[in-house]
Amino acid sequence: MNKATAVSPANIAFVKFWGLKNKELILAYNDSISMNLSNCITKTTVEFSPKFKKHQIYLDLFGKGKQLITGKKEGKIVNQLERIKKLAKNNWFAQIYSQTNFPSEAGIAASASAFSALTLAATYALKLKLSNKQLSVLTRLSGSGSACRSVVDGFCCWHKDCATQIAGVNHWPELTDIVAVVDTSTKKVSSFDGHQLALSSPYFKARIEEVNKRARLVTQAIKQKDFKTLGEQAELDALSMHFVMMTSSPALFALSPKSWNIIQSVRSWREQGLQVYFTVDNGPNIHILCLETDKAKILQRLKKMPEVLFTIVNKNCRGARII
Ligand code: PMV
Repeated sequence: MNKATAVSPANIAFVKFWGLKNKELILAYNDSISMNLSNCITKTTVEFSPKFKKHQIYLDLFGKGKQLITGKKEGKIVNQLERIKKLAKNNWFAQIYSQTNFPSEAGIAASASAFSALTLAATYALKLKLSNKQLSVLTRLSGSGSACRSVVDGFCCWHKDCATQIAGVNHWPELTDIVAVVDTSTKKVSSFDGHQLALSSPYFKARIEEVNKRARLVTQAIKQKDFKTLGEQAELDALSMHFVMMTSSPALFALSPKSWNIIQSVRSWREQGLQVYFTVDNGPNIHILCLETDKAKILQRLKKMPEVLFTIVNKNCRGARII
């Protein structure tokens, strides 16, 4: 049977990928470092059959119900399917059903979890035997570069063409990511389009000059479980990326007043003695980084903030896998 189901998490980057050196090959200007998010998951079933007359893709995004997709979104998925079919020397069409359990297109790396789950399920369904490196490379080519990090278990670094592990899933179980969701609507500019604006910022060059050094520092911090360095560098990196975004032309403002309120609160909670930091991707929803010991206190505070619609608590977890 040419059918397989894969699950795969989103990931949060402590050092972020922003700016494409090569948009066909999806190569980044800098290394990026991330951990997987245990409660932000996509589950995808792919079935290939000689009976199907065309690819049919159904998505169920965060409880919106099963919908047949068309247009640009379908195009990206079909491109990845065709790439995989070519590798497997197969000319059948596929039926796909994919469910995402968190808001998609809101800057919580839904495309990373979706394309890593799709790539693993489709390659497995076509009986392709890929190494971890080959799977990461193939996932990167989907167009969502950060997806190549979601195929690795635990903490990883995307360097050049693929992501490799820095530390395993059980290395640092105290480390916690809380997504404070303030807005579930679709982001204004996709990350793929945003990467291409990066170079127009006069500050992009300055970011690139410092970012690989930060990646080395963050790698060390993860290995040594040095939360202070990890948190400080993650904040710095998120601000540096958003500064490049806001000074691109056209400018890209992903953060809303609600996001800034949470950022200010995190900073004041830290002044009050909590060990807490923030990071944020291309969207208004803030990731709060803390240790297990402070988790309950932080959740209590977030609950009292009117701008927070809900929270998603994540630990590190395995990358894409077949179920
Ligand atoms: O992989 P893409 O093209 O979806 O871009 C990801 C961009 C960020 O989420 C903002 C940063 C990152 O490294 O995850």
